[in-house]
Amino acid sequence: DEKERVTVDYVKGILQPTPTCETWDQIWNFQAKPDDLLIATYPKAGTTWTQEIVDLIQNKGDTDISKRAPIYIRIPFIEWIIPEIGSGLEQANAMPSPRTLKTHLPIDLLPPSFLEKNCKIIYVARNPKDNMVSYYHFQRMNKALPDPGTWEEYFESFLAGQVCWGSWYDHVKGWWEAKDKHQILYLFYEDMKKNPKHEIQKLSEFIGNNVHNEILDKIVHHTSFDIMKQNPMANYSSLPVMDHSISPFMRKGTVGDWKNYFTVAQNERFDEDYRKNMANTSLTFHFSL
Ligand code: PPS
Repeated sequence: DEKERVTVDYVKGILQPTPTCETWDQIWNFQAKPDDLLIATYPKAGTTWTQEIVDLIQNKGDTDISKRAPIYIRIPFIEWIIPEIGSGLEQANAMPSPRTLKTHLPIDLLPPSFLEKNCKIIYVARNPKDNMVSYYHFQRMNKALPDPGTWEEYFESFLAGQVCWGSWYDHVKGWWEAKDKHQILYLFYEDMKKNPKHEIQKLSEFIGNNVHNEILDKIVHHTSFDIMKQNPMANYSSLPVMDHSISPFMRKGTVGDWKNYFTVAQNERFDEDYRKNMANTSLTFHFSL
């Protein structure tokens, strides 16, 4: 079973699953267009949720249109390959504009044309404790990523930044520092949980598709965790590489689940490490609602 698992490689010092891309030069040469919209996240920060919201905003809340295809077809994941479908780059290149695209790349590994063409970028960040727990379960169920080992082992890997797409700290801080120099809307998973309508409104203003109140309410409803969990076009149930019997892609969708995993000792170590790594930034997180 483990033979199906991917190998990993360092790309400019950042761990990446090996067969995710054509080559890194092809990724970095990707030609973004000025009207591309990019959704950028560290893995498990709320990507799929944001994708579904954005697709609905763009289609004025029409849920039939949003069910036209699985989320990974509607919004290509540029640095990834799905064996049955092809690479995200191929998907993106075949797509009519305006395109919406997804990436997990830290800003240092982003194809430069996104910033050169001044594309709008939505970045979503999630508190690192919940992000870690979610990522751990995802690596258990997704054979396209390395086996996470035990929770104790995974805790160490995550803290050391030795997971795919690299250090959570570098990722969230790198994008945070870039946000005022580019067209980047920086959102938080915890805010989306606390006041989804407000965050969806912000998204619609940023994208430039203003939707009226009734449609906003419809989008809030359709993108709630329980509805998305049941939606085969949003819940990744159609992707063979994921084994949802190990852990469903739509797992819990809450803030604070880390309390069920972190031991007191782990939490103390984490907090100390967090303080050190976040001392040089104005970026802050909520660990419960
Ligand atoms: S991925 O694979 O990186 O694209 O994963 P991503 O979509 O970023 O993150 C998956 C986590 O987001 C949760 N999720 C949601 N939470 C609240 N509301 C909605 N609608 C929603 N949709 C997905 C999903 O359950 C994963 O978090 P955990 O904590 O594991 O449940």
